[in-house]
Amino acid sequence: MKQSIQFPDGRQVLNLGQGTWRLGEDAAKYDQEVAALRSGIESGLTLIDTAEMYGDGKSEELVGDAIAAYQREDLFIVSKVYPHHAGRSAIFDACEQTLQRLGIDSLDLYLLHWRGSVPLQETVDCFEELKQQGKIKGWGVSNFDLEDMEELLSVNGGDQCQTNQVLYHLASRGTEVALQDYLKERNIPMMAYCPVIGQEPQLKERVYNDQTVQAIAKAHGISIIQLLLAFVLQKENIIAIPKASTEKHVQLNADMLTMQLTEEEIKKLDAAFPVPDHRVPLSVQ
Ligand SMILES: NC(=O)c1ccc[n+]([C@@H]2O[C@H](COP(=O)([O-])OP(=O)(O)OC[C@H]3O[C@@H](n4cnc5c(N)ncnc54)[C@H](OP(=O)(O)O)[C@@H]3O)[C@@H](O)[C@H]2O)c1
Repeated sequence: MKQSIQFPDGRQVLNLGQGTWRLGEDAAKYDQEVAALRSGIESGLTLIDTAEMYGDGKSEELVGDAIAAYQREDLFIVSKVYPHHAGRSAIFDACEQTLQRLGIDSLDLYLLHWRGSVPLQETVDCFEELKQQGKIKGWGVSNFDLEDMEELLSVNGGDQCQTNQVLYHLASRGTEVALQDYLKERNIPMMAYCPVIGQEPQLKERVYNDQTVQAIAKAHGISIIQLLLAFVLQKENIIAIPKASTEKHVQLNADMLTMQLTEEEIKKLDAAFPVPDHRVPLSVQ
């Protein structure tokens, strides 16, 4: 279901974007992947998530090619810095290289990919300097559990965090125990990665074999992947960033912006794949 999501700084995005992990790594698929991203942009999926880590910069280069034909202000480009680059000695250079590969002057959001050994205060100070320099419009984090968020928001300037990108899908709902509420109370949107269970084949198989899931997908005439996406898109305060490397998949995903699951269906999905009844460690990929 289509929703507009607002960041703490007031900027708004659609609740469906495009992931890019593994895109750009296979030269034979390059043109197809560029076409897939462009078809997503044409359908309004203008938030694109990448990282310096993905294919050692190849994903950022591919995104750069895909977006070159569009007006910069019509796009929302997110990239991530390695934890070992997230200190004063490396972050400014890392950001510059990311911008060069993307062929743009400024990132819409720059995320700390996961927590490393650089003190959070140092990373936040650097992010804020990058903002002052006009290299980034905002910043956020990724793979931060509740305690990490609490610590982040306690450092000077930590309240400028715009998002926390974490793993979230129907069969991995640990963030619903405490983290999602914490973020919602502070109006910080969560970005859901692996929303269609791209990295956990066994879990995906369990979902595929589930009769409730099968029946609901069948009732709507959609695939199970589409149902997984529709489930995440119906949540409040969440931006889903599925990765799709063909135009067909991108369009099937974009179609879920008009899909609405009934309360009854959501209840059945909740019963089949419940939220844990206690805190569990954050799942990461
Ligand atoms: N911050 C982090 O640490 C972190 C970690 C993991 C991911 N991420 C981000 O989140 C994005 C999404 O996660 P992910 O790529 O790991 O997993 P995902 O989006 O859950 O799943 C991707 C897989 O789903 C397939 N797919 C997508 N739409 C489909 C459709 N309509 N029909 C059939 N298959 C479909 C893709 O196939 P095709 O490629 O063949 O279309 C691909 O194999 C990443 O690309 C990345 O940008 C961030």
